[in-house]
Amino acid sequence: VNGLALHEEVVDTSAGDYTQSIESHHRASLVIPGGVNSVFRSRGEPCPLTFVRGFGSHLIDVDGTEYIDYALGMGPNILGHAPSAVVDAVTQATQVGQLFAGQHPVETELAELLVEVIPSAERVRFGQSGTEMDQLAIRLARAHTRRQRIVRFSGHYHGWLDPLFIDAGQGQDGSPTLSPGQSVAASKDVVVVPWNDSEALDAVFRAVDHDIAAVIMEPIMCNTGVILPRSGYLERVRELCDQAGAVLIFDEVITGFRVDLRGAQGYLGVRPDLATFAKAIASGYPVGVIAGRADIMELLATGGVVHGGTFNTGLSAMAAAVATLKALLSDDFYPRLFEQGQTLMDKILTAATEIGVELSVEGLGAVFHTRFGPPGGVTDLKTFNERSSVGATQAFVRALQDRRVRIPSRGTWFLSAAHTADDIHSTADAVRGALEQLVRDDVVATA
Ligand SMILES: Cc1ncc(COP(=O)(O)O)c(C=O)c1O
Repeated sequence: VNGLALHEEVVDTSAGDYTQSIESHHRASLVIPGGVNSVFRSRGEPCPLTFVRGFGSHLIDVDGTEYIDYALGMGPNILGHAPSAVVDAVTQATQVGQLFAGQHPVETELAELLVEVIPSAERVRFGQSGTEMDQLAIRLARAHTRRQRIVRFSGHYHGWLDPLFIDAGQGQDGSPTLSPGQSVAASKDVVVVPWNDSEALDAVFRAVDHDIAAVIMEPIMCNTGVILPRSGYLERVRELCDQAGAVLIFDEVITGFRVDLRGAQGYLGVRPDLATFAKAIASGYPVGVIAGRADIMELLATGGVVHGGTFNTGLSAMAAAVATLKALLSDDFYPRLFEQGQTLMDKILTAATEIGVELSVEGLGAVFHTRFGPPGGVTDLKTFNERSSVGATQAFVRALQDRRVRIPSRGTWFLSAAHTADDIHSTADAVRGALEQLVRDDVVATA
C-alpha cells in the first residue's frame, strides 16, 4: 500500500499485523539513523510505524490498518488530517509561488488576525517551528533586559536546542533529559526549578533577581502529563517577573489554539510578555509564531536583534494558517471540541473504574493524559514520576494500537474537530479491551 492509498481501497483486516511497517522501518534505518527524523518518533512498538494516509480523525498505516488517531501529528492537526478548507487554501497557494524573498499580503493578514485574538500580542513574527520561536523569545528577553539568566521548569519542553533542552523530558520513559554534544556553555545561564512551586521560584528570585532575563514555561504543562497550574501560581510568577523586570514567556506551542483561541493565557487569564505558538496554528504546515509586547518585539526592527529564515512565511504555510484560524473562529468550535473530549475522558474513566484499574484521566477535553496511578497529587515532574507507572502506559499504548486506536507513546491524547461520536464510542470500546488485556497480562492489578 505504498503511496497515497485511497480510503475505499484499503481492507482493514490487519490490526496487530505490522509486517510492512517492520520492513519499511528496516529499509529506512539503512539510510536514516534510527529510521526516524525526530527522536520523539523512535519509541513506537514493535517499531516506529509507517503511515501512508491521514484523513479526518483517521490514519492508515503501510500494512493497511486504519486507526483512530489521537496523536494528530503531536498536536497540530486540530481540524483532523487533510481538512478540506486547508487543502483548498494550500492548493491555491501552490499555484502562485512560495518564497519571494520579500513580503506577501497573506503574512500581514495572518499577523493582523493573531494580534486580534491573542491577548498579549501587540506584534508578531513568524518562523517555522516551536523550537525556533523559543530560541527567539529568550534572545529577545536577553536583549531587552541586558541580562543573561533564564529560569525554566523541569518536565517542560521548549525544543531541542542547546540553551533550552535541559531537564525537559520525562526521562524515565526513555526520553532524553540532556543530549550528548550539547553545549555546556549554552546551558550555564539556565536555572531549572520545579514547576507549580511558588516558594522554589521565590527563592531563585531572592538569590539572583537582578540577573534574570526571562522565566519560560508551558502555562499548562503538556509535556509531562497534562497538568494545570495551581490556583494563584501564574499570578505569582507574573508578580515576581514584574518586580524584578524579568520577561515572562509562555510557551503555548501545545496550548495555543488548542485550549482556547486566545491560548492558555486567555483561558487562564494571565498575560505573558512574550508567547510562542506553533503546532495547531497551521494544521501541520510549518508555522511558528512569537507574539508579545511591542516594546520588546520592536527590538527586531530597531534593536538589532537577529531573526532570519529563508523558509519563513512560505505561502502554503501562511495560507494553511489563515484557513485554520478561520475554522477555529467559528462560535461552536471550542465548546464542541471540549465536549467531545470530556465525553471521551469520562468514558475512559468509567471503563477503568468498572474493570477496577487505577487509571487517572487528567487535563482538558482538547488535550488530556491517561496516567496509571492514584488520582490527584500531581503538580510537577517529581510528583508525576512518583505517581505514574510508565510500564503500564507503554503496554496500554501498544494494546490500544492493536485495537486501531493511536495515542502518543507518553499517554497524551489530542482531540480534533474531526473526531466523531462514533470515533469516541469505538475508542471507549478499545480502551475497555486494552485495559482488560493489561489485567490479563498482569501489567496492572485490579482493585
Ligand atoms: C511546549 C513545546 N514547546 C516547543 C516545542 C518545540 O516545537 P517544534 O517541535 O515545532 O520545534 C514543542 C514540541 O513538542 C512543545 O511541546
